[in-house]
Amino acid sequence: MEKLLITGPTTLKGEVEISGAKNAAVAILPATLLIDGVCTISNLPNISDVKLSCEILEALGAKITWEDKNTITVDSTNINTTIAPLELTNKFRASYYIIGAMLGRKGAVQVSMPGGCQLGARPIDQHIKGFEALGATVTVEKGLINAKAEKLEGNSIYMDIVSVGATINAMLAAVLAEGTTVIDNAAKEPHIVDVANFLNTMGADIRGAGTDVIKVRGVEKLKGGTSYSVVPDQIEAGTFMLAAVASQGDLLIKNCITKHLESITAKIIEVGGHVEDNGDSIHVWADKRPKHATIKTLPYPGFPTDLQPQMGVVLSLAEGTSIINESIWDSRFQYTEELIKMGAKINAQGTRAFFEGVDHLEGAHVYSTDLRASAALIVAGIVAEGETSVYNLEHIDRGYENIEEKFRKIGANIKRVNE
Ligand code: EPZ
Repeated sequence: MEKLLITGPTTLKGEVEISGAKNAAVAILPATLLIDGVCTISNLPNISDVKLSCEILEALGAKITWEDKNTITVDSTNINTTIAPLELTNKFRASYYIIGAMLGRKGAVQVSMPGGCQLGARPIDQHIKGFEALGATVTVEKGLINAKAEKLEGNSIYMDIVSVGATINAMLAAVLAEGTTVIDNAAKEPHIVDVANFLNTMGADIRGAGTDVIKVRGVEKLKGGTSYSVVPDQIEAGTFMLAAVASQGDLLIKNCITKHLESITAKIIEVGGHVEDNGDSIHVWADKRPKHATIKTLPYPGFPTDLQPQMGVVLSLAEGTSIINESIWDSRFQYTEELIKMGAKINAQGTRAFFEGVDHLEGAHVYSTDLRASAALIVAGIVAEGETSVYNLEHIDRGYENIEEKFRKIGANIKRVNE
């Protein structure tokens, strides 16, 4: 079994380069299905979720050429089936984007119910509401989703809940629909804007992405023939920012969009860390034990749920008692059981957890339960005294490019070993 073996404690110091955003990449790749032609996408993170997205596109008939480890050319001229392989689509959450894209391109699709991290209930009712508003019929039976539309027509879609996936899926389905679609109560995450920018570069007419009302004027065709670079990963940047604070270190985090990091910056300052915003890089350092804080996860521009476990490591080490309220997912405190093995004092009750700060953590054998939990456990291992073994590496490999090399470069004693 593979594991990450980490020997700590380490004060992280130096520079780290942020990769392209996973959650933008896994939406932009399906979006290429809407293009009757070729496009090049660069700054893709080299992670297993991107490889899986590419395999699904290939199974549908797209031709993919890897130009280098972060750049591909996709030729979607010959999309020759509407059935996406179930053994691929059930492996991760973002396979739901195949539905919006294929409805737009072919007017039909069959996929499995999406898999992905176990964070509690993950319904797709708002996705279906969007497709149906545009004229599609959607059935969910025996773990399969079938969607069909003779013709997609623009309409108003009011999202009952702010959903990243449902917003992007409504945009994908609306791009080639006849007439105008208005998505109200849309999510505003940086990856929503990135997908809209990608589609607009390819000839779509989407306005308002990044606000809570998005207008999509249907166009006849997406032309392709151009290239697009994926936005830097907000969550990867935030992970390193919080690692700097947890280790009382000093990191220059390069190739990020600091505007996307404001809620994290605010909380770092609140716990006594320091942040210097350089526009396309951010300098984060801490010279003493963090102070306690109260966090509530919220849709963007609030504090991201995808950084909640990493913040949990900081608060485990903070002076006094801190509280995290998780408002997006029902079951995102599984990592706290693992931190407790390392000496943290955490009482998680449902969607709220109380952190009574301890002055140090100790190495232990810990098991990742999901992607961001893995990142948190790695940070905990780096700051803990002694040896930590982090297992279940398939989670971290889904979403962080070269994680151990990036941490090694800033001083961590971390290696991947096969037991
Ligand atoms: C995206 O998931 C991200 N995944 C998640 O990141 C992230 O945690 C989440 O957004 C919130 O920011 C991808 O982008 C691939 P939602 P998504 O729809 O789109 C409820 C990671 O670690 N809801 O915004 O699936 C839902 O239950 C992953 O990178 C409905 O009720 O999340 C949740 O409570 C984990 N009905 C809330 O909305 C729906 O139809 C927000 O979910 C859809 C969602």
